[in-house]
Amino acid sequence: MSGTNPQRQGAPAAKEIARAAAILKEGGLVAVPTETVYGLSADASNGDAVAEIYRVKGRPDFNPLIVHVPDIAEAEMLATFDGRARLLAQTFWPGPLTLVLPLIHDAPIAKAVSAGLSTIAVRSPAHPVMQALLAESGLFLAAPSANRSGKISATRAEHVRKSFGEDAPMIVDGGPCAAGVESTIVAARSHGWQLLREGPVTAPEIEHLLGEPPMQVADDRIEAPGQLARHYAPVKPLRLNADAAMANEWYIGFGSMTGDDNLSVKGDLAEAASRLFDCLHRGDASDAPAIAVAPVPGEGIGAAINDRLKRAAAR
Ligand code: TXA
Ligand code: MG
Repeated sequence: MSGTNPQRQGAPAAKEIARAAAILKEGGLVAVPTETVYGLSADASNGDAVAEIYRVKGRPDFNPLIVHVPDIAEAEMLATFDGRARLLAQTFWPGPLTLVLPLIHDAPIAKAVSAGLSTIAVRSPAHPVMQALLAESGLFLAAPSANRSGKISATRAEHVRKSFGEDAPMIVDGGPCAAGVESTIVAARSHGWQLLREGPVTAPEIEHLLGEPPMQVADDRIEAPGQLARHYAPVKPLRLNADAAMANEWYIGFGSMTGDDNLSVKGDLAEAASRLFDCLHRGDASDAPAIAVAPVPGEGIGAAINDRLKRAAAR
């Protein structure tokens, strides 16, 4: 992932990481890049700091947060890993996979982090800046995506600034996020595994590793509100699978279907994912009153792209 090379020009200096860690230890918020999207992080053990995340995001308090950890050993202080969970973590961590697991009683986590559930979402991110911040602070970091609740996620520091305006916390600028869509969320249940959110680690990859298909749960309780019908949404109406722009539409193309913008001229799905939210931000900021997007194939990370587009277009 070239976008995550700590040596590249413009990578935050050690001094900036130290300043961010100090803010976090004092109970403040810091926006930090991960390989998926920017996160709005706080000390997961500090109830006031976690409450501030919910306030700044405008997030409903029933929607729990992901806790970021350096590695599996640290995650085991918070959550109980069964065989499936261990195999998933060993295979995909550090990386864009979040595991929903039973919360250990007395884990050093503020109640609001898991919104009163008996489970907790944990992820070990691959991004060197987030890993440096975990190491420097010595904290478990609760971090939702760094955008106002329900709005387009942030894959660049400027998106975070734009989303929060005057409420913007310190932002550690690590450049654009390489993956560009939020982590895959998998719940390890006693009888199998459940896909709660599509993401960079695909369902077929998980099925192949675990040797069993996901459980189909006939239950419409919302377990990951990221699954809400309308989410990741631009302000303007968004039309999907558009073969061409209609009058007044900002057209986001894919491959040879060109327009005002293009997710990937080469037709590369990984590139399209990394550019997805940036393209939506630009469409929203354009003069056009509406946005249209070309069809995007659904295989591989295309499943996550189409999931986000569907929710972004829902009214
Ligand atoms: O890639 C990512 O996952 C980014 C980066 C910053 O790590 N974070 C992120 O957080 O996308 P957020 O808050 O935007 O999405 C977290 C999702 C929500 O849909 C939430 O409902 C779900 O995780 N979640 C958290 N804890 C859960 C739990 N115990 N059970 C089920 N779903 C949970
Ligand atoms: Mg989010």
